[in-house]
Amino acid sequence: MEFPSWVFTLFSSISLCFLLLPVQGGLQTHMGNSHFLPLSQISLPPSPSPEASAPSHEVKASLPPSPSPEASAPSHEVKGSAPSHDSARVFSVLSFGAVGDGVTDDTRAFKLAWDTACQSKSATLLVPDSYSFMVQSIIFTGPCKSSLVFQIEGTVMPPDGPKSWPKGNNKRQWLVFYRVNGLAMQGRGLIDGRGEKWWNLPCKPHKGPNGTTLPGPCDSPVAIRFFMSSNLTVQGLKIKNSPQFHFRFDGCRDVLVDSLYIKAPSQSPNTDGIHIENTNNVKIYNTIISNGDDCVSIGAGCFDVDIRNISCAPSHGISIGSLGNRNSRACVSNISVTDSVIRQSDNGIRIKTYQGGSGSVSMVTFNNIHMDNVRNPIIIDQYYCLTKSCTNQTSAVHISDITYANVKGTYNIKSPPLHLACSDAVPCTNLTFSNIELLPAQGRILSDPFCWNAYGEISTMTIPPVYCLSEGVPYTIPPIDGDQC
Ligand SMILES: *[C@@H]1O[C@H](CO)[C@@H](O)[C@H](O)[C@H]1NC(C)=O
Ligand SMILES: *[C@@H]1O[C@H](CO)[C@@H](O)[C@H](O)[C@H]1NC(C)=O
Ligand SMILES: *[C@@H]1O[C@H](CO)[C@@H](O)[C@H](O)[C@H]1NC(C)=O
Ligand SMILES: *[C@@H]1O[C@H](CO)[C@@H](O)[C@H](O)[C@H]1NC(C)=O
Ligand SMILES: *[C@@H]1O[C@H](CO)[C@@H](O)[C@H](O)[C@H]1NC(C)=O
Ligand SMILES: *[C@@H]1O[C@H](CO)[C@@H](O)[C@H](O)[C@H]1NC(C)=O
Repeated sequence: MEFPSWVFTLFSSISLCFLLLPVQGGLQTHMGNSHFLPLSQISLPPSPSPEASAPSHEVKASLPPSPSPEASAPSHEVKGSAPSHDSARVFSVLSFGAVGDGVTDDTRAFKLAWDTACQSKSATLLVPDSYSFMVQSIIFTGPCKSSLVFQIEGTVMPPDGPKSWPKGNNKRQWLVFYRVNGLAMQGRGLIDGRGEKWWNLPCKPHKGPNGTTLPGPCDSPVAIRFFMSSNLTVQGLKIKNSPQFHFRFDGCRDVLVDSLYIKAPSQSPNTDGIHIENTNNVKIYNTIISNGDDCVSIGAGCFDVDIRNISCAPSHGISIGSLGNRNSRACVSNISVTDSVIRQSDNGIRIKTYQGGSGSVSMVTFNNIHMDNVRNPIIIDQYYCLTKSCTNQTSAVHISDITYANVKGTYNIKSPPLHLACSDAVPCTNLTFSNIELLPAQGRILSDPFCWNAYGEISTMTIPPVYCLSEGVPYTIPPIDGDQC
């Protein structure tokens, strides 16, 4: 690739700035390698940006820890630690000065290990077994030389709660992977988000005294965020008690999540298991989630998502949305959720949109979902509102081509088993139901299914019967205008 000469002028002045200013240790290892590499470091990420996380005490990194990463690289290699990567180079965080006693700040060692691994071919960054590493908010930046493995065998945890969070550090994210293409994060280790002290500071508006609503400050960190990255595998790990979402993928593609174990208390707010947005070609398989919010949540701009063999218990179920907030446009399509179990949850399979949005949710299939004592097993809510102050509006995200098949089990009679509250302005179309069998977990059937402006087809008899669904297509076809995705 060729750059016009002004790029070099710009670059030289920026490098000069880096040399004059104290910089994070990791950058210096890049400086020697190639003059092109720092361009990726200095490019401004689009909003919301992963903010730089280097706390000020770390920046006097002129002396690398022993053994020095600038010395012969092979000295960092730990042979035979990652079974499946014998031929690849393994960089243990211990070789970069990490202590792993659960107290010492190991951020810098992680950063150095990452930068070194990132600049090597087919490297493995190893977080070894039997250690507990405390690291602050950190951004692992790519692109790297080739795809790499982040092997977590030990425990990784952040500072303990908001009071221990270093001032000036981003409080909305903890471990961030930015512009990384080709990463396998795996191992038998544990990521402990230590969320307990954050949970009183929820993101969402929440109940205050005397029926008031308090605003949500939303400055609790997402545990692991992948941002503008691709070809990612996250496999086998245990992750618990995130202050906020456990995983968030935004602006990513080609993602495989497999065999994770995600756990937080049922009362912990905003602790979504896996949240994706603006992300496509996602596979989420064989994962066990129990938490206090959505098990998996799918935001705007997601398509080609395959979710299979997930257990959500307890949780707030699997959600598409919320979409269309503040009159935004949202497009979600080709989502499939199969062979999954939802137990003791506030919702089962849910599509939620605010009034006033545009765009569409289409081609969604829920197949073979087992419900156990779930409130709202099947729910479409186009009147989603967190503050009670939402007003009726004349546009909505159009919901169409949604298939519910083989959804069986029991529901909590506090709310109807099917709740299809479609927009007044834009009806839901082509909702199809087959082999639905939902019985009350306890007590007698109290409430019938609820439908509003919901059109579609019952392919086979359902239990309970959904008499309220309007057959066929609405007289007024929703305006195509603003609907195209
Ligand atoms: C994706 O990453 C894997 C390793 O995680 C690598 O083997 C593969 O070549 C990568 N594929 C692409 C298309 O980059
Ligand atoms: C809540 O209401 C009670 C009784 O009306 C009142 O005494 C109390 O001051 C109120 N608390 C707040 C925080 O407004
Ligand atoms: C489903 O996921 C669980 C938990 O990871 C796993 O034990 C089980 O073997 C998976 N089932 C299938 C059919 O893959
Ligand atoms: C839907 O997504 C799957 C991957 O989950 C993909 O294989 C398939 O081609 C997509 N279908 C369409 C019509 O794009
Ligand atoms: C909004 O629409 C609903 C359903 O048509 C209606 O019951 C409600 O009164 C409306 N609210 C306002 C504030 O207009
Ligand atoms: C209804 O939705 C299903 C599933 O997405 C699709 O196969 C079918 O073609 C749709 N029917 C109409 C009439 O659009």
